[in-house]
This record gives sequence, C-alpha cells and structure tokens, in this order.
Amino acid sequence: MTEEEKLLLEEIEQLKKENNALVVAHYYQAGEVQEAADVVGDSYALAKACQASTKKVIVFCGVHFMAESAKILSPNKIVLMPNPNAGCPMADMVTPEMVKDLRKKHPEATVVCYINTSAAVKAECDVCVTSSNAEKIINKLEAKEILFLPDMNLGANIAAKMPNKKFILFEGYCVVHHQVTTGDVESKRIQFPNSKLLVHPECPPEVVELADYAGSTKGLLDFVIDSDAQEFIIGTEKGVVYNMQKACPDKKFHMLSNCLLCVNMKKTNLTMVRDSLRDFQYEIEVDEVTRLRAEGCLKRMMELAE
Ligand code: 13P
Ligand code: SF4
Repeated sequence: MTEEEKLLLEEIEQLKKENNALVVAHYYQAGEVQEAADVVGDSYALAKACQASTKKVIVFCGVHFMAESAKILSPNKIVLMPNPNAGCPMADMVTPEMVKDLRKKHPEATVVCYINTSAAVKAECDVCVTSSNAEKIINKLEAKEILFLPDMNLGANIAAKMPNKKFILFEGYCVVHHQVTTGDVESKRIQFPNSKLLVHPECPPEVVELADYAGSTKGLLDFVIDSDAQEFIIGTEKGVVYNMQKACPDKKFHMLSNCLLCVNMKKTNLTMVRDSLRDFQYEIEVDEVTRLRAEGCLKRMMELAE
C-alpha cells in the first residue's frame, strides 16, 4: 500500500464516523478499495448487509445493479456510488420490454431474474436469485417451467441439476466469465497438475463440468479456506484472489485465464470513495413505483433463501 493510499484510508475512516456511513465492497473490487470497506462480500451478502445496517449512508463499491438493489431494500438510506459509470454489461442486455414479451410467450413460466439486472427489470420478474442461492430458491418454486434471465450460463448450470424442471434461458452472458474455454482448463491443468479448479457458475457449462467446485465468489473463498489443497486455479474475476491470499497466505493461486478482469469493477478507486463520503455523491435513486415492485422480487429471494 502506498503512502497516498494510507492517507486516503485514514481520511475515509474519519468521514465514515462524521457521516454515520457504511462502506461496502464486492470481492472483485481493487484490494485497496476492499481495505476501505466495513463489509466485503458477494452480491447476496452485500444486499443483506446494507439492509441490516443501522447507518444512514451507504457507499457501495461495486457495480450499478448492486447499489440499486441496496437502495430498493433500504429506501430510507442514502445509497451512494463513488463512480456511477460502473455498470454491468450483462445486466444491460435485458430490458423490461423484453421480459414483458417473454412472459406473453411463456405464460405458464415463473420468471426468475439474476440479481445482475436493473430495478426496472426486477420489477417485471417474480423472484430474484444470486449465484449463492439460485439452486435453493428455484428448487423451492412449485413451477415446472422457469424463465431464467439474463445469464444463460448460470441458467444452464442450474438447469443441469434440475432435470424435473423445464428452463427457458434468455441469451445473455457475463462478458468476463463467458470468455473462458475448455482449452484454458486443459492447459492450466497441465501447467498446475496439483491444483483444484474453482469456477463461478457464470462460466460456460462445459467449463463448469470440468471444475472441482463451482460457486459464488463467497463459495469459492470458503472452499479455499476449508480445503486441504495448497494450489488452486481460479475461474472467476481476479479481485477475489486478494481475499483468498489474505485468508490463506501460504496457498498458491493461478488464474484460469488472463481475460478474467471486470473493467467495471475496477472503475472505483480510493479517491472516489473519499470524494463520495465527503460530497455525498453519486446518489442512487429509484422511482417509487418501480422500487416497490422490484422490492417484492428481492424480498421473495430473501424469504426463500433462508
Ligand atoms: P456474486 O453473486 O458471486 O457476487 O457475483 C456477482 C457477479 O457480478 C459475478 O460476476
Ligand atoms: Fe457483470 Fe461480469 Fe462484471 Fe460480474 S464480472 S459485474 S457479471 S460484467
């Protein structure tokens, strides 16, 4: 950590106290941004932490749909994003109009959306899921037909475990995880033969099939901590390695592919976090009609996930 970063962290701590603020960061954030956070987690853990917090102000270091989900669940809190240009290209692949059209085509289906969607899309869906709870929640649904959006890879990976349900998959994907191939797996397995392969379920099904474990970012971190293995090939965004290395300094981590970098997750830096706390910028707003409908979708997730 540089001297400048240390000074910024001190300033951030002071501003948090003055403004009764909570700073949260996703595991994919840059290491120094994670150091500024009171809570570091996956998308589900952060949604819950923001909802449970008694602080009046939340500074969300992640991408837009995550901060928006925090606002939906905590309408009376001020939710800020240090860099409002940090979006998720996968979330942008689906619009509310597309969901309405799909509903007309599949009237019997229960519409399940990944949390990587806008508030306006969540408002059109029946229940939300994250990669850490999708299987549990969909298993609990009575519906035999599931319309899953927008991630076709996560959808296909869940569908493979539920042959009793029919899945209709929207053809969206994560621009980062979708790039990994079975060729990457073959070459890394040769290069690092004693490693366990851990992947995020946003990776294509043919890659997930070859993994020793697939799970949410938190799931992957827990696996590393609990495992007797000493080396791991990581098939998710490289930011998560910061926490893995911190939790297990003696273990070795190799990236499955050089493409595993989410530029949007790296658009937030410490100066922006400081400015956000100091100047109360940039506030996330969701119109109340959309918020209430999207809240129903997220709250159903919270209920079914417990
Ligand atoms: P998690 O739900 O594992 O935090 O993943 C969110 C995400 O955007 C993965 O690319
Ligand atoms: Fe979106 Fe993929 Fe980045 Fe996650 S890693 S925020 S799904 S683009």
